[in-house]
Amino acid sequence: MESKIWLSSPHMGGNEQSYVNNAFETNWIAPLGPHVDGFENEIQNFLKDNSLVAALSSGTAALHLALIVLGVKPGDEVICQSKTFSASANPIVYQGATPIFIDSEEDTWNMSPEVLETAIQDRIKKGKKPKAIIAVHLYGMPYKATEIHAIAKSYNIPVIEDNAEALGSSYKNKKCGTFGDIAILSFNGNKIITTSGGGALVTKDEAVKQKAIFLATQARDNAVEYLHSSIGYNYRLSNVLAGIGRGQMEVLEDRVNARRQNFDTYKTALNNIEEITFLNEPKDCYSNRWLSCIMTPSESIREGLRLKLLEYNIESRPLWKPMHQQPVFRSCPSYKNGVSDNLFKKGLCLPSGSNLTENELNRVISGIKTYFRAC
Ligand SMILES: Cc1ncc(COP(=O)(O)O)c(C=O)c1O
Repeated sequence: MESKIWLSSPHMGGNEQSYVNNAFETNWIAPLGPHVDGFENEIQNFLKDNSLVAALSSGTAALHLALIVLGVKPGDEVICQSKTFSASANPIVYQGATPIFIDSEEDTWNMSPEVLETAIQDRIKKGKKPKAIIAVHLYGMPYKATEIHAIAKSYNIPVIEDNAEALGSSYKNKKCGTFGDIAILSFNGNKIITTSGGGALVTKDEAVKQKAIFLATQARDNAVEYLHSSIGYNYRLSNVLAGIGRGQMEVLEDRVNARRQNFDTYKTALNNIEEITFLNEPKDCYSNRWLSCIMTPSESIREGLRLKLLEYNIESRPLWKPMHQQPVFRSCPSYKNGVSDNLFKKGLCLPSGSNLTENELNRVISGIKTYFRAC
């Protein structure tokens, strides 16, 4: 059996180890320290646009703190893109609020502006204005920020930009992660850069950054003794892991280029298989192509292909199962147009790591070609 080809595995740049060694040598083995500060500064310099960054233990923690900072409370409703990973929606429930799921548009696979507006109007009619909107740049493809944010603004609802999958992407030449009232990043092991586990909250408001850090470090009031007047969390990023992040920030642009190159390689090589289609970048969108995805003609063909690739020891995955189909969220209101159900049925994510070798890419391509020649 040939070696396993993973969907998206960590890819170190080379300098991570020396930052980690430095953390040990200086004994900054804590959820604070020079690497945490340095990592935050480096992300800020990358995002630009007056971004302020609080480094946290995960993207999920960042979403949770974003909801708290925006005042989401039990009984509230929060709008969330349905086609996403469950981590986008779970923190809504941590807050005792109800997720309201919104279907996708064909162009970007992200939140449909039309469905969003219909849903907001309907929720207001039913008696509750949503407290926030969580919009996601899925697989690195930017959502239509101009439209989504204009709608949000017209109803005065803040947007949390879930940028877990799209660091390095941009929309209208502005970096993803700079659009939301609050944005979040993830540095989970499968992301475009990783700290093994980690995340960040991005804001333009120093008070929001400080509030996020306060809540992430157990909400300690300004006193010599341990004094608490609110509930806190243990959500800060470790200085050791931030060291990995600093090494990864040095190679972020390379990682984006490599993932975009994977997409182009697949697209060119599979061009004459007419059963396969790709999501092209709509005008104004620049995707980091975190995962290269294809659409097949049917669920059975998609599943047949996945199993065929598995025979060759190649991991591939169906596109995210929409949240409105998840048993845990089935009772939540949802506004659907069939797009995300169709994407889930027919779509497949291919191996997309920035460390894939030419030989590995060729193995994936030849596996796909073999399958379609036979069926
Ligand atoms: C769209 C999306 N949102 C949120 C998250 C949560 O990030 P983390 O795993 O760092 O908690 C992830 C990834 O895991 C994700 O893909």
